[in-house]
Amino acid sequence: MCGIVGYIGTKKASPILVNGLKRLEYRGYDSAGISTMEKDEISLMKDMGRVKNLEELPGINDLEGTIGIAHTRWATHGKPSKENSHPHMDNSKTFSVVHNGIIENYESLREKLKSEGYTFYSDTDTENIPNLIHYYYQKLENEKGIERFLKAVRNACLDLKGSFAIEVICKDFPDNMIVVRKDSPLVIGKADGENYLSSDIPAILSFTRTFYLLDDLDFAVLSRDNVKFYDSDLNPIEKEVKSIEWDAVGADKNGYEDYMLKEIYEQATSTRETVGTRFQGAKTSFDELDFTKEYLSSLTRIYIVACGTAMHAGLAGKIAIEKLSKIPTEVDIASEFRYRDPLVDEKTLCIFLTQSGETADTIAALKLSKAKGAKTLAISNVIGSSITREADLSIYTHAGPEIAVASTKAYTSQVVLMNVLAIHMAEVLENNDQTYLDSLKKDILELPEKVEETLKISESLKDFARKVYQEKDVFYLGRGVDYAIATEGCLKLKEISYIHSESYAGGELKHGTIALIEKGITVIGVLTDKDLIKKSVSNLQEVITRGAKTLIITNQDFDTSAFDVVLTIPETNTFISPVLAVIPLQLFAYYVAKEKGLDVDKPRNLAKSVTVE
Ligand code: AGP
Ligand code: GLU
Repeated sequence: MCGIVGYIGTKKASPILVNGLKRLEYRGYDSAGISTMEKDEISLMKDMGRVKNLEELPGINDLEGTIGIAHTRWATHGKPSKENSHPHMDNSKTFSVVHNGIIENYESLREKLKSEGYTFYSDTDTENIPNLIHYYYQKLENEKGIERFLKAVRNACLDLKGSFAIEVICKDFPDNMIVVRKDSPLVIGKADGENYLSSDIPAILSFTRTFYLLDDLDFAVLSRDNVKFYDSDLNPIEKEVKSIEWDAVGADKNGYEDYMLKEIYEQATSTRETVGTRFQGAKTSFDELDFTKEYLSSLTRIYIVACGTAMHAGLAGKIAIEKLSKIPTEVDIASEFRYRDPLVDEKTLCIFLTQSGETADTIAALKLSKAKGAKTLAISNVIGSSITREADLSIYTHAGPEIAVASTKAYTSQVVLMNVLAIHMAEVLENNDQTYLDSLKKDILELPEKVEETLKISESLKDFARKVYQEKDVFYLGRGVDYAIATEGCLKLKEISYIHSESYAGGELKHGTIALIEKGITVIGVLTDKDLIKKSVSNLQEVITRGAKTLIITNQDFDTSAFDVVLTIPETNTFISPVLAVIPLQLFAYYVAKEKGLDVDKPRNLAKSVTVE
């Protein structure tokens, strides 16, 4: 987690760094700090809390340095405090380092360095890094020039176990910076006479559209107008420059009070972008994929592996993929999958769903599946993200930058894309009725309009939110695809309103959860699958009998007199109904959090990309 920014050029670095940190604050916000290269020394400014606190530190505007590194932290080792915040320096104050990730062998490194006379001032795993670099730097005193700095960083990195993206500056080399990454994100933005660094592309898109992407243990030595790359043996290597087309405006709030609200309202556009031109021919086009009838027929199973909201999109995707392609499909939580020795081989297709493409557990699950011989397909929203560089095949959701920690438009785009993929598979396999597939395509193409309509209808939930925002528990219920939707709606409420909520499959209610239902409790029912509505209505009756008040989200016409609030949204094919039915649940969670006066974009304890285990 955490956000890293860096700048090396001719402009004053500190405002660029602070600005970059603000854009990355969604990744971590326990503390923030910067180091810039001042005349004879490296400056260090850091503080607890938000980037705003850093910005207000006396003297920050007096920094003149044109090279600097910056960090916004999501603590893993050591509580959020000024001492634990980054950058960290070595004892001699020769090096300053920012780090994203976890150093797993930090205890043994700390012991070793202490025995060498080093003192530690923080509880972080990170503080080992500048001291370890210094340790090697001393040993390399016979080396000349930048080689000495580079070798010291490289030797230190080879001692580190775990994940890291690191930026290092050194007092003895005031015109350089060295960066390296392993299993944590870091990109280099190239501009004229200057270079920018960041944990993700959107944070520096307003400065450049040209990027270098680093692979694991690639070392980059930056100067103002040049970047040299080396592999882990320090052999020089060439890196391709990538151009990004995203619109930087897409990452701004655009007049909305919060990023989350903006992203909820962007779902008509984002779902349209996801479909793109895939339906323009008679058959769905996926040029990036090499799925032949022979290959798809050889598959015994598909796994969809993901975390959090992406996993919930996987639950919806499974239903479409299994029904349309007729290939048995399972959904798994990446952190479980990676440790349970899954039955995966070359007859398995493993699909990894991830908005950021940086989620540590999802990447690890992909590496494991690949090692076991499965074909791996990454579905990500971030072009060039780490997972897309590991996977055999990659496709993108094209939802545009998602900044709010609580995922909304990435979810709906994931559901849409998996449906498009399911149709493609069925078309390649020629095992489904083409007229039915064409009607589903038509429904998918009509989604953006229906999203707009659903957004309008859902605004009425503000009143309901006002009634329930002080409650302690809320329950969500659904069957089939509606259960998948309920699960995602439930997570949204937990994440941003801190209200305890549970989702359950309607039929499971009587096996335990019903014991929690008491007078006045709120139960939200999702009822869009017409084949299962009667069953869900019976389950809702069971909670009404026990005193619950109910809100139902439906797209069907039936007797709803038993419910307290009924929200009727546009009808669509059941496979894609999550795209519409999740919208009122997203907005409901948003309204509740706002009633409580909470910061919806940066909920407590969470970070946008979970790049640690
Ligand atoms: C979504 O609201 C959550 N913040 C979280 O569950 C997220 O979906 C999960 O961490 C997976 O992220 P990814 O899609 O970037 O892999
Ligand atoms: N492990 C480091 C720490 O706790 C870095 C965490 C981060 O990525 O923000 O300080």
